Amino acid sequence: MNDDVKKVNDIIREAGIKALQETDSEPEPQLTGGVQWPVSVQLGRGLEGAIACETTIGYVNGTKGWLIYRGYNIFDLAEKSSFEETSYLLLFGKLPTQQELDDFKKKLKDNMPVPKQVVDILKSLPTSKTHPMSALRTAVSILGMMDETAEQTTVEAEREVAIKLIAQLATLAGAVARIRKGAEPIEPDPALSHAGNFLYMMTGEKPDPVLERIMDVALILHADHGMNASTFTTMVVNSSLSDMYSSISAGIGSLKGPLHGGANERVLYDLDEIGSPENVEPWFRKARETKRKVMGFGHRVYKAYDPRARILKPLADMLSERNPEHRKLFEIAVKLDDIVCAELGKEKKVFPNVDFYSGIVYRAMGIETPMFTPIFAVSRVSGWTARVLEYLAQNRIFRPRAVYVGPIKQDYVPIEQRS
Ligand SMILES: CC(C)(COP(=O)(O)OP(=O)(O)OC[C@H]1O[C@@H](n2cnc3c(N)ncnc32)[C@H](O)[C@@H]1OP(=O)(O)O)[C@@H](O)C(=O)NCCC(=O)NCCS
Repeated sequence: MNDDVKKVNDIIREAGIKALQETDSEPEPQLTGGVQWPVSVQLGRGLEGAIACETTIGYVNGTKGWLIYRGYNIFDLAEKSSFEETSYLLLFGKLPTQQELDDFKKKLKDNMPVPKQVVDILKSLPTSKTHPMSALRTAVSILGMMDETAEQTTVEAEREVAIKLIAQLATLAGAVARIRKGAEPIEPDPALSHAGNFLYMMTGEKPDPVLERIMDVALILHADHGMNASTFTTMVVNSSLSDMYSSISAGIGSLKGPLHGGANERVLYDLDEIGSPENVEPWFRKARETKRKVMGFGHRVYKAYDPRARILKPLADMLSERNPEHRKLFEIAVKLDDIVCAELGKEKKVFPNVDFYSGIVYRAMGIETPMFTPIFAVSRVSGWTARVLEYLAQNRIFRPRAVYVGPIKQDYVPIEQRS
């Protein structure tokens, strides 16, 4: 194994050991072990506290800062697994045997090429002027129109579509990255891993092994995260027995927002705006005065340091050593992290989330800022599809209520008598 790749794995192992020492605890009884329907919970605005379903896919312990996929903690998976294996785990509920993994990887590779018409349509649209997440959302929609199996909504048929989408989102995001720059999209190379292929299709260069490994780690870290807005969106859309393509394109639309996946891009704009470590303190004071949210901080569930940030921070540290501009960015970020944790961490339990250090990692890998959120989508499609399939097997349409606060009885006034 290349020394730098080994260093990446060592960094993750150390972060995991430290996290375990600081966060060892019991799972929360109210969020593990099963639900007796109907369930009574305390609800806050934005469905805070709501229980949508039971799941065996993943668990986030927000008080302690744990993230678990199918019982495996995120530090173990990030250090030892691959995106392909983690996707298998999320979709099928167990770690694959070697044969199962080989077959799954082959299936992903076979499904990676996308129909030429999809790329042609993307080229004919204002893809270079549009946000890449809008282009990706549209691309998935077009893909759905070209798949004759798209309207079959059994678990088995949708699982096949899920595998196609996990494979093809990387190809589509790669094509979007190329078309934005006026370059020709690149076909996937079957000799490369999923992460390696994704980097290759975005940049046009065969990736260096450490960058390939770090992209693989980033894809593992972002693959699933409980009932977040985009995952819930995919499940709500699919619960009407719509179809997997509609669900995933809706999920991409939800992930795009700056309060969700779009934050990784905004963090970099903020860090660029701050410009130097001396400006961090006055920038933060002004942000507080004007009640501006600091991007990459805070979380509905985590009231502790996000375990994914515990991994991405030292990786950003390692990668940024290669370039003085990236180093400066990392130093600004660490200073902002310290100040926010000391103040908002103490007052409101606001800590860095996954999006705070991921962008610094991607910038140091040479990826353009607008492509940061599509990377998130290329990974999260595993969690989205796994959760959609799990819910489909026990489907009940989602249908909450709103409390009406408008007038109840109004007399209809003819238009000529209205003022
Ligand atoms: C993620 C986020 C949308 C969660 O929203 P939420 O669950 O509604 O959180 P709340 O607004 O209830 O936050 C609780 C308190 O912390 C404050 N807070 C939360 N995130 C903050 C941030 N990033 N910067 C400054 N203050 C923050 C809120 O203003 C609120 O303060 P108040 O009680 O005085 O009103 C929110 O933290 C946020 O906007 N973060 C920045 C965007 C981001 O990084 N998103 C990616 C999430 S993975």
